[in-house]
Formats: sequence, C-alpha cells, structure tokens
Amino acid sequence: MRPRAAPALRRVRHQIKGAERKLKTQHMPTALIILAAGQGTRMLSDTPKVLHRLAGAPLLVHAMEAGRALEAARTVVVAGHGGAAVADAARAHDPEAITVTQEEQLGTGHAVAQAMPTLSGFAGDAVVLFGDTPFIRPETLAAMREARQAGHDVVVLGFEAAEPGRYGRLVMDGDRLAHIVEAKDATDEERAIKFCNSGVICASAETLSTLVGAIGNDNAAGEYYLTDIVGLANARGLSCTAIRCDEAETLGVNTRADLARAEAVFQDRARTEAMAGGVTLTAPETVFFAHDTVIGRDTVIGPNVIFGPGVTVESGAEIRGFCHLEGCHVSHGATVGPFARLRPGAELANDVHVGNFVEVKNAVIDDGAKVNHLTYIGDAHVGARSNIGAGTITCNYDGVMKHRTEIGADAFIGSSTMLVAPVNIGARAMTGSGSVITEDVPDGALAIARGKQSNKPGLGIRLIERLRAIKARKTN
Ligand code: UD1
Ligand code: CA
Repeated sequence: MRPRAAPALRRVRHQIKGAERKLKTQHMPTALIILAAGQGTRMLSDTPKVLHRLAGAPLLVHAMEAGRALEAARTVVVAGHGGAAVADAARAHDPEAITVTQEEQLGTGHAVAQAMPTLSGFAGDAVVLFGDTPFIRPETLAAMREARQAGHDVVVLGFEAAEPGRYGRLVMDGDRLAHIVEAKDATDEERAIKFCNSGVICASAETLSTLVGAIGNDNAAGEYYLTDIVGLANARGLSCTAIRCDEAETLGVNTRADLARAEAVFQDRARTEAMAGGVTLTAPETVFFAHDTVIGRDTVIGPNVIFGPGVTVESGAEIRGFCHLEGCHVSHGATVGPFARLRPGAELANDVHVGNFVEVKNAVIDDGAKVNHLTYIGDAHVGARSNIGAGTITCNYDGVMKHRTEIGADAFIGSSTMLVAPVNIGARAMTGSGSVITEDVPDGALAIARGKQSNKPGLGIRLIERLRAIKARKTN
C-alpha cells in the first residue's frame, strides 16, 4: 500500500502539468544542451564537478530541472571529464537524456559543436545551459523564449555583475547585442562594462549549428568560444539581443566554497518558500531541505531537522527537533520525533506517532498507530491503531536476506519484543514484554516467548552480603 501523494505535491504536479501544456501549445519544440565536460579543477576532486551534490542532487540535475519548464523535446548532456559517471547521472534523472562525449575540452563552442549532430533535422530552438549553474529560473528561460518569438535570432542571458572579473562582457548597441568579449580578450573600455554573460544562449538549432561551425580559436585562451556566435550572427545580418536576470540566478560552482555558498542560497530560498507556503519553521536557519522536498501547509517543523531527497509531508503534521528524513511520506496529522529517523520507504499514514530514537525503513505504519520510543521498524507493515512498545525491534536481516514483519490492526506489542522475521502478528494480538517472537501469532492471541520467572526467597539479601564480604577481603 502506498498512501496517495500529499495534496501539496498533487497541487505542484498539477501546476507543472498546466504550465507544460501552456508552453506546448504556444511554443515550438525546444532542445536543451547542457555543458558538463569541464574538469572542475578547482574542486580538487576525483568526482566530476557536476556530480557534486547541492540539496541532495547532483549540480547537473539542478541544471536539467531548470530546463524542465521548457519541456524540452530533447536534452543533450555534453560530458567529458568522468564522462561515464556524468552520463549515468543524466540518464538516472531523465532516461531519455542523450549524452555525448567531448574528448578534449577545447572550449564552450567546441562543446556545443559535439552536441549538434544529435540535433540534426531538429526543427526547434536550442537552449545552452551550464551544468555547474544550478539556479536559472524557469521564468527567465521563458523570457528568453519570448525574445526569440519577438524575432531575435540569438538571445543571450546577461546580468549586471557586482564584480565583472572573469566574466564575458556583453557589448550592447541599444537593444541589440553587438558582440561578447571574454575578459581575457577585452580592451580596458570593454572591461569596464558590467553587463556580463551568464552563458545561457538560445537560438534555433539550425542557426546554432551553422554559427558554431564557424567559430575559430584565435583568441587569448586558444579556445573555441561559444560567445563568438554573437559576432558571427551579426556579421550575417541576424539579430541578437540580451535578456537580463538577477546575478543570484547565474551563481556558478567552481570551488568547494562556491558549493557551500550555493547550498546556503538554496536553503535560504527553500526555507522562505516553505514559510510562504504556510509551513511553520521554529528555527528556519537550522532546517535543511532537499531539492525535491514537499511540505503541506500548517505542518510545523522544529529545529535541526534534515530532509534528504524524496520526502513528502502532508498538511498538519509535526516534525519535532533533530529528525532525519529521507525517501519517505508523512501523512496529515502525524507527529515525528524528536530524534527520529525515517529512511527510504517509510510511509506514515494519518495521525501516526513516531517518537524519540525510533528508526523506520521500508515500512507502512497505518492510521493512528504509535511507535513512540527506542524502536526499529524495518521491512514491515504496522496495522492501524496498533501500539508498538518501547525497545521493539523487527529483526529483519538474517545476514543474507531481508524478511518482512506483518502486524495487524489494533495489536499491542509489549516493550522490548524481538520480532524475528518473517513473522505475522494478527489483529488485536498481544506480545508479552521481552518476548522473542519467532512464530506467527493468531488474531486476538497473547504470545509470551521468554524464560519463565522463578523467585528465590531471601536470596537477594544473602547474595549482596556475600559480595560485600568478598570486596572487603580484597581491599584489606
Ligand atoms: C564562460 C563564458 C563567459 C561567461 C561565463 C559565465 C565562454 C567562452 N565564456 O566562461 O562569457 O561569462 O562562462 O560563467 O563561453 N565546458 C565544456 N567543455 C569545454 C569548456 C567548458 O563542457 O571545452 C563547460 C564547463 O563544464 C562549464 C561551462 O562549459 O559548465 C563553462 O565553461 P567555463 O570554462 O567555466 O567558462 P568560463 O571561462 O567561465
Ligand atoms: Ca566558469
């Protein structure tokens, strides 16, 4: 049983569907080209730069998601350094993604040229994004598309840079983009320009292909600059323009410090969005979201809560302090924590209570059930309104295989019961505290599986006196 998607999640999906329909009916098909072949030397890493994670997902996935609003008919990822791993990550996110390899990193123009054969005969626009630039907003890409529809052949995304430094400069002539000059090649006058190139470029696939084919490498870096297509387009009488976005959108990741900064920016936005959506965060700066976290309104999240990927929480739930959630679903009215861990496949139905030091993995806990203290529930189903006593463990692993535990509705599991899976506990059944349950318990039965107690009269006092005497002999 999988609880239905949270209302908030359904709403978001509905909105995305609506936006996609709108784009589909109004626009020509778009292909996305994501440049991800760079070495990322300054990360000092064995992992390709675009596979470093931001909010739980590779940077590459953020770029792919940024392009999602375009409902790209094709997504082409240009991989180079660590190519196989980059290609795997691209396809894991979008099985239809096309990946091409750029053997030698000869520049952004050369990288785009590697992608063009996969778009031969593609009658639509191509949008170039960088794999290490995770924050481009859908609205910005939509504005670029509008500029294309208004008749411009090449549209470049620019921003006013606080410190233009190494960025390419956009040389404007009124509304017309005359050319882009890389900082290394710029004159002093050009270097004074603050309107910079984000790297995002849009043109028809056909135009892009023609222009990219004409790029040379006669420049300060000896590279094939994608930015040269603007000068080439103008020389052919095509029209070029630039759209403006906020500098924050163009934040790229080149170093570990950039990655941490990007994470901070992401978290800041996610917290603001959660609160704007009706979620209470008692200490927002201590809550960390993943790229895909969905939280319903009137849910309260305490301090120091961490969301890994794949979490949905419905409305009116409470996640208390110090919880860690990943790949799980929490339904309306449920309370979790403090100090609880929900691992992948944990599904809490309405009004479930999961308390402190409880771990739940690959298990459905049905309406109103309580698992309040010091418990491990893995590979299991807990029936509605059942109560799981403190210290209960589903012994799900025999060292080789995993096994399931089924607990019926209204069952009562005594404290510190070991449920040795595979095992079924019937509805309204009980287990005695401290039992090691190795056999199924029928509906309504009480199972006791532990050594029988025997009381030895007076032995408690005699034993203590003997031990004290031994200690006294030793210390004298
Ligand atoms: C580029 C732009 C510059 C812009 C800046 C914005 C060019 C020539 N310059 O400069 O105008 O202001 O981005 O950040 O386009 N890549 C490949 N293969 C290559 C080279 C690069 O896939 O051969 C990828 C990189 O992985 C990266 C992106 O292209 O994702 C940008 O490359 P990078 O070398 O960082 O370009 P910049 O010099 O920063
Ligand atoms: Ca760069």
